[in-house]
Amino acid sequence: MATHLIDLSPGDMQRRLGDALAIYVDAMRYPRGTEAQRASMWLEHTRRQGWKAVAVVEAGLESLPSPSVDPATAPMLGVAYGYCGAPDQWWQQQVIAGLRRNGADSGRISELMTSYFELTEIHIAPHAQGRGLGEALIRRLLDDRREQHVLLSTPEISGEANRAWRLYRRLGFTDVIRGYHFAGDPRAFAILGRALPL
Ligand SMILES: CC(C)(COP(=O)(O)OP(=O)(O)OC[C@H]1O[C@@H](n2cnc3c(N)ncnc32)[C@H](O)[C@@H]1OP(=O)(O)O)[C@@H](O)C(=O)NCCC(=O)NCCS
Repeated sequence: MATHLIDLSPGDMQRRLGDALAIYVDAMRYPRGTEAQRASMWLEHTRRQGWKAVAVVEAGLESLPSPSVDPATAPMLGVAYGYCGAPDQWWQQQVIAGLRRNGADSGRISELMTSYFELTEIHIAPHAQGRGLGEALIRRLLDDRREQHVLLSTPEISGEANRAWRLYRRLGFTDVIRGYHFAGDPRAFAILGRALPL
């Protein structure tokens, strides 16, 4: 199967939102119906400063030998997006609260929070996982960023034993906060980060 990486404009994301959210729900093994809860948030994110989204899509044979992929229709195998962190964002406020609780001083907090890209979502359809597509998506998403750091949150899992953790560690992400509970979510998360460029 030939695959291609493409950038998604805000309009592309709006048009492909159903496909992107279906991948998210399948990849995270969330119950059906979660899509509806997340749709307005994913769309609101497209309006944030520095928003960028990338997708991996299947290219049909008819597009050979010079593949041109239509972002409006190409079957989607994976999606990732993020944006520039800012003080009015809930996620940043949560992370700062966690850093303070862990005893971080204001210098450390400002070093981390002044200039970062939040890698908000990255998901590959289950049947396409384990072929390097997630790594390719992250590399494309981060390759032209101007922020000093990239930060993300991921659910804690025993022994860091899943593909997301292996990917982040392989790319040099280190611990910012471990075992963090975001307000209203019973699950424990890790906040991971690394300096940019990748
Ligand atoms: C996390 C996720 C995005 C990673 O994407 P992925 O494409 O599955 O993973 P990677 O890009 O890291 O692929 C690496 C794997 O592909 C294999 N691979 C095959 N060809 C490869 C290539 N050319 N380059 C790199 N890896 C390759 C590697 O051996 C590795 O296998 P392993 O994980 O069994 O050791 C994806 O697995 C996913 O959507 N998971 C569920 C949702 C999720 O957890 N999202 C993140 C929440 S924070």
